[in-house]
Amino acid sequence: MNMDKLFPTNFLWGGAISANQSEGAWNQYGKGPSVADVMKCRSQLNLKEYTDAKTWKQIVKDVKNPEDTLFPKRQGIDFYHHYKEDIQLLAEMGIRVFRTSISWARIFPKGDEEKPNQEGLDFYRSVFEECQKHNIQPLVTLSHYEMPLGLVENYGGWQSRKVGDLFVKFSKTVIKEFHELVPYWITFNEIDSVLRHPFVSAGLTEENRSQKQMLQAMHYQYVASAKVVSFAHRLDEHLQMGCMLTGLTVYPYSCRPEDNYLAQQMRHYMYLSGDVQIRGHYPKPFSKKLKEELQIDFSEEDERILADSHCDFLAFSYYMSITQGIEDGTEKTAGNTITSMKNPYLESSEWGWQIDPLGLRILCQDLCNRFEVPLMIVENGFGAKDTLTKKGQIDDDYRIDYHEKHLYQLAKSIQEDHVEVIGYLTWGLIDIVSSSSAEMEKRYGFIHVDLDNEGQGTLKRTRKKSFYWYKEVIATQGKNL
Ligand code: BG6
Repeated sequence: MNMDKLFPTNFLWGGAISANQSEGAWNQYGKGPSVADVMKCRSQLNLKEYTDAKTWKQIVKDVKNPEDTLFPKRQGIDFYHHYKEDIQLLAEMGIRVFRTSISWARIFPKGDEEKPNQEGLDFYRSVFEECQKHNIQPLVTLSHYEMPLGLVENYGGWQSRKVGDLFVKFSKTVIKEFHELVPYWITFNEIDSVLRHPFVSAGLTEENRSQKQMLQAMHYQYVASAKVVSFAHRLDEHLQMGCMLTGLTVYPYSCRPEDNYLAQQMRHYMYLSGDVQIRGHYPKPFSKKLKEELQIDFSEEDERILADSHCDFLAFSYYMSITQGIEDGTEKTAGNTITSMKNPYLESSEWGWQIDPLGLRILCQDLCNRFEVPLMIVENGFGAKDTLTKKGQIDDDYRIDYHEKHLYQLAKSIQEDHVEVIGYLTWGLIDIVSSSSAEMEKRYGFIHVDLDNEGQGTLKRTRKKSFYWYKEVIATQGKNL
């Protein structure tokens, strides 16, 4: 490898967060409640209660529950009131791209209002202008696990085509408003997770989760995404529109054909989202399944809309690989929106997520060969409990080690496998509330935030050891990896 030039000159170094895990101000400045605001902190519940299971009865109870500390996403890290200080720190690190999302419920509080909430638009304008001031380019996710609860109540979430129209309206509103400030957009965060997290991804409550309903919801999301991408391309040819998958490298548990079949099925489900949003159509067998076997609502016009729209880049998150097989009774482990068999060759984080840097290289090669568009890694990070030293520092060498190993494999992928990767965005950048468990103690950031699971803390921001490490990586284009 050419160690002097591991990454291309214009490589997009950056980091990512989401509105629902960081902003707070959940019921202020005109914002309505979202699916994220009724998610309880795992450490205060048992495992069964904290997962995606939500009945409508439960939601009504939760949304009225004034105990905000049970629901950490309601206050996030109060990015809403700290964004200037936070963006200043990101600039100090030297990042070029900052990914966040726009909370749909901050713009259309119930999801179906006639006019947008001006205060919400003003807030995001200030955030993006602040980025511009520091030469940071925003990348905005339009839907990151935070749809307005009103749409769950009144339309049953994404099982209704009408929700797609409302999403298109919301997206057009914000793209028109911010296209001069925001060059990169992703329509849906990990769109394939509708099948694994149907409530946060698509507002499907426990009563509405048959395979047919989930695939219908995902189909409406694809159609809405395609309309938004076409609109953005017509509005401004400079906009780069991306779609995003949950990047999971899938291994069979053994060379047994049955294990391999399971692993292949899993891969097909993941790639599906790229097939539809980049190639513009479902693979034939899958469209047969949707139309003939499940008979979902899938019109000829949908087909045309999908065919006319193509994303410019493929974004994906990558934390870990998973292992699939038919063997009963093997040890299982948790992962990003999924449970996997334990892979004896890999170590895991405290949350069970299996650490696999080479898995990233394998996935990059696969995605590049299949989709033939530039790739962008929009999430990669290590969730860990951090402790402060007596001097008040955080020496997070474990996090540095995780990123270093992944970046090394990424460099190999770019140089030796000739994969086109245009950017690497770390997940977290700054500590935020965890998505799957709504805990504060599962930290990913290079900047520590003084806040605990119960919402106690000063909110003070402190640079971790990884902050200086990432700053150096960016400044030297990874030369010292
Ligand atoms: C991704 C999500 O799946 O994983 C993020 O897009 C999330 O929102 C990240 O935070 C890490 O997951 P968790 O549950 O550890 O926060």
